[in-house]
Amino acid sequence: MPALATGSYPSTRLRRTRQAAYIRDMVRETRLVPAQLIQPLFVAEGGLCGAVASMPGVMRLDLEALLRKCEALYALGIRAVALFPVTPAERKTPDGDEALNPESLMCRAIKAVKQAVPQLGVIADVALDPYTSHGQDGVLDAAGRVDNDASCEILRRQALLYARCGVDIVAPSDMMDGRVGHIRQVLERDRHHDTLVMSYAAKYASSFYGPFRDAVGSGANLGKGGKDSYQMDPANTDEALREVALDLDEGADIVMVKPGLPYLDVIRRVKDRFGVPVAAYQVSGEYAMLKAASANGWLDEKKAVLEALICLRRAGADMILTYFAEDAAQWLA
Ligand code: PBG
Repeated sequence: MPALATGSYPSTRLRRTRQAAYIRDMVRETRLVPAQLIQPLFVAEGGLCGAVASMPGVMRLDLEALLRKCEALYALGIRAVALFPVTPAERKTPDGDEALNPESLMCRAIKAVKQAVPQLGVIADVALDPYTSHGQDGVLDAAGRVDNDASCEILRRQALLYARCGVDIVAPSDMMDGRVGHIRQVLERDRHHDTLVMSYAAKYASSFYGPFRDAVGSGANLGKGGKDSYQMDPANTDEALREVALDLDEGADIVMVKPGLPYLDVIRRVKDRFGVPVAAYQVSGEYAMLKAASANGWLDEKKAVLEALICLRRAGADMILTYFAEDAAQWLA
């Protein structure tokens, strides 16, 4: 019996373009390739190396292992890594002095990776939390509040130090007001015209960063002190657009939205409004959730991860920081 005509049916049948892989592949609107993935990597030394309990499959790597990992990632088509140092407790101070130490593990790691795999883009987080004894991203004033302008003074020097070590991209993740401008200015003055700034522009005060704080050992130090006085309220999106506008005005080349999956609407608004390169960070808590459900057999890991990543792309992210970068690159090969 011929189909009963109602509206545009049966002349229009959307299932026609879904019926077989060949046509689904042809009408696919969004693509995911390894070059769009950025692998975050934790760097450590001595006894601090090893597995991260809340992030199964993620290791704190020593310098030698870091270089081998970077070579493997590049061979898989990944074009950039984001480095995060693990600092021994005895090197942490209230002012995070280790952030400005030219011999720090971070500085040595940047130089070693740029020498071993020069074509691989290296991204350095700029913030004080790996180095402060209180775990905050900046320094505190007499009243114990995170001091915005005093923090910016240190952050700009930290960014300059990493640029001098040869880093390709500095990524301020601290959410101080005005830090992108501070950093851009000091980079220009020191003739680092080509050093990019990827700003964590819309970074939310999220509970999904817990496993990361375990990995770098800042969580316990932070204790009950949260980051709500500088990271954004998860309830806001107009404010995210203001953050992005300011960072672009101050010289950001790439703006990031973080976390990823619960914030797809923010990614979309930023992309639509500004049309600039947008990064999304699928954070440690998102990784931990997907890993835990997969380990229990409740999710098909490969399918769920690739779906989450394509959704971040569909929402408007040009590039994605994800702890699944290496696995995804292998799955996509
Ligand atoms: C440090 C920083 C954090 C993350 C990236 N850089 C943690 C925080 O702000 O407390 C989180 C990354 C993740 O959870 O994967 N400023």
